Amino acid sequence: MAKTKVKTAYFCQSCGSQHPKWQGQCSACKEWNTVVEEVIQKEEVKVWSKKESKHKVKALKVADISIENEVRIQTQNTELDRVLGGGIVPGAIILLGGEPGIGKSTLMLQLALGMKGYKTLYVSGEESDKQIKMRAERLGEEDSDCYILTETETQNIFNHIKSIEPDLVVIDSIQTLHTQAIDSSPGSISQIRETAAELLRFAKETDTPVILIGHITKDGNIAGPKILEHMVDVVLQFEGDRNHVYRILRAQKNRFGSTAELGIYEMVSHGLREVHNPSEILISQKDEVLSGTAISATVEGMRPMLIEIQALVSSAVYGTPQRSATGFDLRRLSMLLAVLEKRCGFNLGAKDVFLNITGGIKVDDPSIDLAVVASILSSNEDCAIADKICFAGEVGLSGEIRPATRIDQRILEAEKLGFDQIFISRYNKVEKGKFAIKIMEFGTVEEVYQTLFN
Ligand code: TYD
Ligand code: MG
Repeated sequence: MAKTKVKTAYFCQSCGSQHPKWQGQCSACKEWNTVVEEVIQKEEVKVWSKKESKHKVKALKVADISIENEVRIQTQNTELDRVLGGGIVPGAIILLGGEPGIGKSTLMLQLALGMKGYKTLYVSGEESDKQIKMRAERLGEEDSDCYILTETETQNIFNHIKSIEPDLVVIDSIQTLHTQAIDSSPGSISQIRETAAELLRFAKETDTPVILIGHITKDGNIAGPKILEHMVDVVLQFEGDRNHVYRILRAQKNRFGSTAELGIYEMVSHGLREVHNPSEILISQKDEVLSGTAISATVEGMRPMLIEIQALVSSAVYGTPQRSATGFDLRRLSMLLAVLEKRCGFNLGAKDVFLNITGGIKVDDPSIDLAVVASILSSNEDCAIADKICFAGEVGLSGEIRPATRIDQRILEAEKLGFDQIFISRYNKVEKGKFAIKIMEFGTVEEVYQTLFN
């Protein structure tokens, strides 16, 4: 029997760079112990080759390129459309990452089933067709033009694509795909890179959008080479606390829109429900006002929402006071506590401080600071903040209140939800008489404290 020579190469698991021999440290990204040997043995099997391409490529002037027929595909999933910047661009390749069990497959199957008027293909390498059918039954959308394929070999997938001619392809997941062109196991760096490249060629040449589901590593990055994220047009992250029902869809990279938009979903028994009005769910319904809670008028992307913040300040039981925060940066919390201690004279150094943003949502908006400070002060004083007050402002290192962006939108949202007063920075330019809600302007945290608790 003729012995075939096995060709191998060394790949860094972290950055995907190739090395001729093994080395302890990757010379490209300087990570240690990430270089592993992989069998490559490349054959001349091109899976989606240029020959199949429909149009000839030639250089064009920018002015001559027509985008008239570049209509975005509306997916019926308005939260997803918003995050993508108004729908799926034909030929786009989208990568969706997220923790196991967060709902990636559910979101994508729901999308594939719900796109009325489009033929969709859902390729799964993780579940059997019966499992998918059961899930589809749960989602309650069966009479749609969605094809299910349980296959991991890219050659076979492309054969099916040729006969079905779908308008959208979903791959669950890129880590399970395998191409005959490369001999290493599915999920390895070279397989991921090669299968993604084949799908990318397919998407660009046929103008069919492809959505790839990707696994993530322990530290939250998408598993596989970093180059995968460079190759695709859009990187979406599906996140949320698994113990909470709310899920957030964010764009980490988007070649066709902004990355500031958020999509909010609620996991219910029949799939993911879109949350169009987040403010109503993020504020807990309660009859009596309790100390330690404050409402922040925040803006995520273009969308204003009101979020409830809860703080608990208590005397430290152990020597070192504990600080813990969910949904809020711990370093920022420490900074705000230091500001309160140093600039406003509150003695919080010997107290435990726990902070929680309800709904398990992580907020990046710095203008949430004022509400955080207010909730901490309220818990410390054990005095509730009057009902129907909300806050929007960033707190600076000297205890000054900095203006919030898009203040009009925040005020309008607060007004819409029936708040009576909004506390903002004095430096925000707000047109007087434009709003019915009472606008309270402050320069420092000290002034806010005096108004709230005296
Ligand atoms: P799944 O989409 O399989 O997650 P991923 O593909 O990201 O690993 O989601 C699985 C979770 O979603 C599972 O724990 C159960 C929950 N779920 C619901 O609560 N309701 C539903 O209708 C469905 C389909 C799933
Ligand atoms: Mg899955």
